[in-house]
Amino acid sequence: MPSIYTQAVHAGERTPAPAETPVTTPIYHAVGYLEPSAARMEAVFAGEQAGYVYRRYESPTVDAFERAVAALEGGEAAFATASGMAAVHAALLAAGARAGRAVVAAQDCYGATYSLLSTLMAEQGVAVAFVDVTDLPQVQAALVEHRPAALLVETISNPLLKLADIAALAELAHAAGAALIVDSTFATPFLCQPLSLGADYVVHSASKYIGGHGDVLAGVVVTSNANRQRLFALEKLIGAVLAPEVAWLALRGLKTLPLRMERHCANALHVATWLAEHPAVARVHYPGLPSHPQHDLAARLLGGRGFGGMIAFELRDATQTAAFHFLDALKLILPATTLGDVYSLALYPVMASHRALPPAERARLGIGDGLLRLSIGIEDVADIVADLAQALGSSEQ
Ligand SMILES: Cc1ncc(COP(=O)(O)O)c(C=O)c1O
Repeated sequence: MPSIYTQAVHAGERTPAPAETPVTTPIYHAVGYLEPSAARMEAVFAGEQAGYVYRRYESPTVDAFERAVAALEGGEAAFATASGMAAVHAALLAAGARAGRAVVAAQDCYGATYSLLSTLMAEQGVAVAFVDVTDLPQVQAALVEHRPAALLVETISNPLLKLADIAALAELAHAAGAALIVDSTFATPFLCQPLSLGADYVVHSASKYIGGHGDVLAGVVVTSNANRQRLFALEKLIGAVLAPEVAWLALRGLKTLPLRMERHCANALHVATWLAEHPAVARVHYPGLPSHPQHDLAARLLGGRGFGGMIAFELRDATQTAAFHFLDALKLILPATTLGDVYSLALYPVMASHRALPPAERARLGIGDGLLRLSIGIEDVADIVADLAQALGSSEQ
């Protein structure tokens, strides 16, 4: 099988190949599609024949993106959605989350995922239990108690960069009859392929590293052919499908994912090491540092290719004032609410990604007023460090 560098450039494209094959898949804007006969259209509607009839069902540009992500994740199939949250939602429903069933989820997860479960899903009758996925006996106890439809975890958690031991969690989940859903947005298939470790559904916010340039809002779920059928059936009704223009951008971004990830990882390790020595910094959360409590697991789980581009750190002056000073002083790093772009980005979880969490819950999880999250871009690392140095100087005022 070609390496991830080769697959990233070619996967998904030029299938099926007509007589004159464009090298890159065009953007098919069409909503409706013609088949050569009504009988064949009937067969496509019935799912007996591959083909296109209506854009909310299947469309060629979106298909190309799905095939590409499935190839990189080593999965049978993928289903693209309008956003990462739509992908999380679709995976939960496909795994069987519904009234009367339970979901066990990582307490360390993206704020909107936490809120989706604790508000919307809970209001719809799903029993939701949050656990510390770094504590396997605690996870097992929750699985035995709740017999959930799904266990939902993040490979590398947002924002505290905790790791999920996917192989161990898959075993526990399956023993309890639950599907394992892994949000691998921070890790990307460059660092980890959760399906090969036993996960049933891999979810990405493709708005992040997969798109990579800050101009795509998209999501994708990678899974088996049978599970994709469920996602398809659900999204035919829900309609949170990806637009072809966006799929095209996401597919374009995917081609350089391995190259960008190499640089994100190298830059982030350098920045994390530098931050750990800085007098204004109380603590750095980065799986690549030996001080990270799961550094050994990170080395195993992330395939030796690096430790990702995300860093969290705590200011010694753990106040909102100091955090705001830092954000306002940045000149190169963009204080924008996203991650995984070629640009370096800074985010204050209390204000943005984890705003919806009750303050007491945030405090319990360790998301304090001095916590900042960095998404390290692919710029020259010396320029990133210089910007941090001047901004941290200003946060000490
Ligand atoms: C880990 C993770 N999962 C899911 C999402 C949701 O993605 P989107 O914003 O594309 O809906 C995010 C967004 O930041 C995220 O960080």
